[in-house]
Amino acid sequence: MKQFFSTNDIVSLSHIIKTALECKENPFGNEYIGKHKTLGLIFLNPSLRTRMSTQKAARNLGMEVMVLNMGTEGWALETREGVVMDGANAEHIKEAAAVMGSYCDVLGVRSFPKLDSKEEDYSDDLFFKFANYCKKPILSLETATRHPLQSLTDLITIIEQGEYFYDAEKGNYIPKVRKPKVVLSWAPHVKALPQAVPNSFSEWMCRAEAEGLVDFVITHPEGYELDEEFTKGAAITTNQVEALKDADFVYVKNWSSYEDYGKVLSMDSNWMLTLEKLEATNNAKVMHCLPVRRDLVLSSEVLDSDHSIVIEQAGNRVWAAQAVLTEMLTHNK
Ligand code: CP
Repeated sequence: MKQFFSTNDIVSLSHIIKTALECKENPFGNEYIGKHKTLGLIFLNPSLRTRMSTQKAARNLGMEVMVLNMGTEGWALETREGVVMDGANAEHIKEAAAVMGSYCDVLGVRSFPKLDSKEEDYSDDLFFKFANYCKKPILSLETATRHPLQSLTDLITIIEQGEYFYDAEKGNYIPKVRKPKVVLSWAPHVKALPQAVPNSFSEWMCRAEAEGLVDFVITHPEGYELDEEFTKGAAITTNQVEALKDADFVYVKNWSSYEDYGKVLSMDSNWMLTLEKLEATNNAKVMHCLPVRRDLVLSSEVLDSDHSIVIEQAGNRVWAAQAVLTEMLTHNK
C-alpha cells in the first residue's frame, strides 16, 4: 500500500479488519517489520488520538517515530506553484515534503479545511502535493474531505462489537444473524466543523453495506446533506426518530453544511441524542470519534451509560493504524 487516503486504497475490508484484530490480539507479533524504518507524523492541526495511537502502533512494529507540529513549530508552507515567495510563507512544499521524505520511510499528514472555499478544501491539495513530492508511502491523519484511520477504526469496532463470524475460506466477515443497522446522526454544535468524519464514515459504511456487513442510514436536518460522492447507497432521512428505530449502532457527529459551504444552519438541541431517544433502538451502542462536547453534541447521561462505546472505539485507533502500517511496510511496491 503506497497511500491510505480513502476506502479505495483498501483491496478487502475484511482483510484489513482481520489484520487489525490480529494486531489487537498480539500487538508485538510483527515487532521487527518496522526495524530501522522511520514514520514521520506531520500535524498542521491539533490532535490527541491520531497522534498518540499512530505513534503507539508504529512502535509496536519496531518503527522510529518523528512528530512535527508543522502548524505551530514548522516553517509556514507555500503550496502554490510559480509564485514569488515574498509573503508570510517561508518554505515551499516542494522542498519541505522532499526533505521529510528523505528522513522518513512513511509519512502521515493532518491538514484540516479552512471552510472558506469548497473547491479549495475538496481538492485536498496539500495532502496530494505532500504525496507527490515526498516520494514515500503516505497516510492521511485526516484531511479536508476524509478521516480514513477513524473510519477504519469505526468499522473494526462495529465488527468487533456486533455479531459476525469470519469465513476463512471466503476471507470475509459475515453477520451471524442479520446485518446490524448503523445510523449516522447529525448533532448540534456551536462551531462550524468539517465534513471529513461524516464523509469518511459514510464512505466506509456504504462500502460495508455493499459487501453485506451493515444496513446504513444517515439522519440530519435539512441543509446538511453530504456530498453525494460519499453517500451513494445510504438511506437518508431528516426524521431522526424514524432513523433511530431498531438501530444497533448510533454514530453521533456534528458537521457544517456542505451545500451552504461551511455554514452552521442549525443549533437545534432537539437533535442531541438522549437516553429517551435510545429507547426506540435495539439497545444501540453509541459511537463518536471524539473529542466530544458534553451536553451539547452528546448528553452526559448517554456518554456515561452502558450504551457508550466511545472509549473502546478510541482504543481501536491503535489497531487500525497498526494494520495500515503493516500493509505499508509489507506491500508497498
Ligand atoms: N478522533 C480523532 O481524530 O481525534 P484527534 O483529533 O484527537 O486525533
